Amino acid sequence: MSVVKILCYLLLTYHLNEAKETKGSGAADAKQRGVLKPHVSSSVFGLFVEGEENCALDPLQLHTLTSCGFNSSNPLIIITHGWSVDGLMESWVHRLATALKTHLIDVNVVITDWLLLAHQHYPTAAHSTRTVGKDIAHLLQSLQVHYQFPLRRAHLIGYSLGAHISGFAGSYLDGSERIGRITGLDPAGPLFEGMSPTDRLSPDDAEFVDAIHTFTHERMGLSVGIKQAVAHYDFYPNGGDFQPGCDLQNIYEHIAQYGLLGFEQTVKCAHERSVHLFIDSLLNEDKQSMAYRCSDNSAFVKGVCLDCRKNRCNTLGYNIRKVRSSTSKRLYLKTRPRMPYKLHHYQFRIQFVNQMENIEPSLTISLTGTKEESGDLPITVPETIWGNKTFTFLITLDKDLGDLMLLRLHWEGSAMWKNVWNRVQTIIPWGSRRTKPLLSVGKISVKAGETQERTSFCAMTDEDQQVEVSQDKVYVRCKEDTQKQRRRKHNRLVRAP
Ligand SMILES: *[C@@H]1O[C@H](CO)[C@@H](O)[C@H](O)[C@H]1NC(C)=O
Ligand SMILES: *[C@@H]1O[C@H](CO)[C@@H](O)[C@H](O)[C@H]1NC(C)=O
Repeated sequence: MSVVKILCYLLLTYHLNEAKETKGSGAADAKQRGVLKPHVSSSVFGLFVEGEENCALDPLQLHTLTSCGFNSSNPLIIITHGWSVDGLMESWVHRLATALKTHLIDVNVVITDWLLLAHQHYPTAAHSTRTVGKDIAHLLQSLQVHYQFPLRRAHLIGYSLGAHISGFAGSYLDGSERIGRITGLDPAGPLFEGMSPTDRLSPDDAEFVDAIHTFTHERMGLSVGIKQAVAHYDFYPNGGDFQPGCDLQNIYEHIAQYGLLGFEQTVKCAHERSVHLFIDSLLNEDKQSMAYRCSDNSAFVKGVCLDCRKNRCNTLGYNIRKVRSSTSKRLYLKTRPRMPYKLHHYQFRIQFVNQMENIEPSLTISLTGTKEESGDLPITVPETIWGNKTFTFLITLDKDLGDLMLLRLHWEGSAMWKNVWNRVQTIIPWGSRRTKPLLSVGKISVKAGETQERTSFCAMTDEDQQVEVSQDKVYVRCKEDTQKQRRRKHNRLVRAP
């Protein structure tokens, strides 16, 4: 009971006060902005130097940039944190800065410290996002004016409220040259969801905007992360509402055990996952997570969205392909609960033919490829099968199987069916094979999202479509499929220089 109260209290503090508060005249004065006006910054900027304290930059004292080692011929990344409960810089900031610096080497990494304003009630902190955005815009303008630093070489990465701050920084700099890229890591939801594009992060704020949404789980009409698309590419890992390994089911137990700290950890786990997915994309270059455009997550888990034509798929994180489009694209993917987060996505398509009895099959499938085997994958077809029906579903694996060669299918039968069947069998001795319960399987194909290869499977003998309960049935890559693949490989070789 008291636990529920605490939860309600915490969630309410997120959306206390009038939502209109953050709306304002910002975009208008940005447009009137002319020359560089003197500006007193309420944020502190530090150039990240590995193994040392951040070197404090003062936009009004440009010699501090030189003495800190800012190199204007290199690109600039500015990391901006979000709302702060304890007034301390969270540890992910250092991790992200280190990953950027180690991976990209010739880059200036700057950290925005707005803890003074962030360590307030949420609505107050949210209200300060424009102010901090203006501070960043001034820093960038100083660099532009005094170092001829091109804005398109700046990449702003903001977490939670920091995502909207980065957006405001971009909208204050809406002259002829724009910021190159803004990445929103689970942009904050309360007081920003449903607002006009000028009052939150939006695709208009930079040449290219991407966002990763990881905690849009709604409680009492609000979610910590923003649900709506706010970028050119919006990624929704695992549907975006919650993340594997964060375990909301146990939230009450966790609070009972660890008190408010437990609540905070649970909230942070999914919210902060956006940051760790981004770090993962830097650290594990050979394991880049691919995401696919889809109307929503329920369509995605049916496996119908693994298409990469016309920029429908893209890489999550730092190495995204920066393709601008007029509309926001929503991309979905599944991930592992831990780093490296990458999973391989496979779409299964199974056709049932001329099925005369109503059955609810639960199947076990296993796949063998040229590199690996999948192991047993239990599948429950969610509907009764009758007549001719094709089912598709999504399977994810943490390994790359290589070219698919062989598929093993095992029909468990439904529990009820099995009982009936066993009982019936002891009463009536079944003479002919034909009277046993049979599953008639037509075409089976598997498409790998990551390689875009579709493989069709055929039974070993042509006329044999039937699968009996508890029987293991083996399918191989169809002959015409093998030939097609050979042709493709051949063409590739011929075309190669
Ligand atoms: C700035 O970085 C470039 C590499 O991008 C390097 O060649 C140059 O020496 C650096 N300048 C200084 C002053 O360190
Ligand atoms: C299933 O399709 C086959 C042709 O492929 C057809 O002969 C058969 O009548 C269909 N069965 C049902 C129940 O629709």
